Amino acid sequence: MKILMVGGGGREHALIKKLKESRYAPEIICAPGNGGIACDARCFDVSAEDISGMVKLAKRENVDLVFVAPDNPLADGMVDELEVEGIRAFGPTKAAAQIEASKVFAKNLMKKYGIPTAGYEVFDNPQAALEYIKSKNEFPTVIKADGLAFGKGVIIAQSMSEAETAISSLMEDKIFGESGSRIVIEQYITGPEVSVLAFCDGKTVKPMVSSMDFKRVFDGNIGPNTGGMGTISPNPYYTDEIAEICMEKIFAPTVRAMAEEGRPFKGCLYFGLMLTDDGPKVIEYNSRFGDPETQVVMPRLKTDLVDIINAVIDEKLDEIDIEWDNGAAACVVLASGGYPGKFEKGMIIKGLDKSGGAEGVTVYHAGTKLSDGRFLTSSGRVLGITATAPTVDEALEIAYAHIGKISFNGMHFRTDIGKC
Ligand code: AMP
Ligand code: GLY
Repeated sequence: MKILMVGGGGREHALIKKLKESRYAPEIICAPGNGGIACDARCFDVSAEDISGMVKLAKRENVDLVFVAPDNPLADGMVDELEVEGIRAFGPTKAAAQIEASKVFAKNLMKKYGIPTAGYEVFDNPQAALEYIKSKNEFPTVIKADGLAFGKGVIIAQSMSEAETAISSLMEDKIFGESGSRIVIEQYITGPEVSVLAFCDGKTVKPMVSSMDFKRVFDGNIGPNTGGMGTISPNPYYTDEIAEICMEKIFAPTVRAMAEEGRPFKGCLYFGLMLTDDGPKVIEYNSRFGDPETQVVMPRLKTDLVDIINAVIDEKLDEIDIEWDNGAAACVVLASGGYPGKFEKGMIIKGLDKSGGAEGVTVYHAGTKLSDGRFLTSSGRVLGITATAPTVDEALEIAYAHIGKISFNGMHFRTDIGKC
């Protein structure tokens, strides 16, 4: 069996490492991959967004399955194109990936099917948006670009002047291009955040173990949002009782709604939840595995991932039992100096070996390049140091102890993942 993984971050590295544990012993190739992934899979220089290039690669390499991990190729219909060519693919179609690619679509879906979420209005005119915010006069207020925006399309405005700046940069300066032509203005809600990834086959939904993402760049949850500076699993706020409520009010209704809309969701659906005093609400949907959530969820998966992927594609998810390790996992991201703003690349990373870890630790590569046998930094998020242990506290201790061995110029990380 031969599998092509599309993507090249820490999430893809975690998925590949899990696939390598499969009893089917699949051969894994990856495009574009990264320095660390190259130690686990043959990598090809095809961009994750190059749909025709990826279809060609899948055919040339005669793969049995393509796993499309990142948001952009899903939103652009890579799975549809692969299916047209008769190639099995894991991931939602373009129509189903709208649940992430358009916040307006997602919010309207939730409204239509009574799925709990923050109140909102949609605007395609900056003047009307500003007048609405002025008339409401409630701060903070949440402003979201409709389309994909590298995870940076959400602005929490504390004042009218911040709202004005946000709206003009999204809608007039178009800092995220057409993604900002329409915006959602949302009620600000509060509570602990939970990430739940779920396997879906269009009809059945099977949630994975929960996790918590630490999105802000600095300790104490301050500074700008990033793609995620670290994660823990399980999420301490996500009790069995809350999980049951989420299944009844959010997960199952979402999968039913997508099927009813003629966009059955097959793949991994990511529920970004907030546990408010009013009950759990959806903050966002993603049409893919989260990063760095995958890095703490996959190590806890006991069932063969290849069997689950096949069950999803063949719409037989109801026939499979998915088992999880009862312990915990923690991931701490090591980032380039300056990230999430400007940063330099090409720094030599010291303290890594090719086997990538120590007892209980796995180093997932997010942004590295292998050059003359040395690992160099190549992106904002560079490595995800992940540990598994019976409890989150122990996992954190092991992960942080391992970080002491690794260094590169400008390296920074949060010292309080799982603690605040
Ligand atoms: P997103 O990119 O949609 O995950 O949003 C980024 C972050 O913004 C979330 O993790 C929340 O912390 C915050 N956020 C998004 N929507 C709201 C909201 N309606 N109220 C309060 N915070 C929000
Ligand atoms: N960690 C958040 C995301 O993957 O969107």
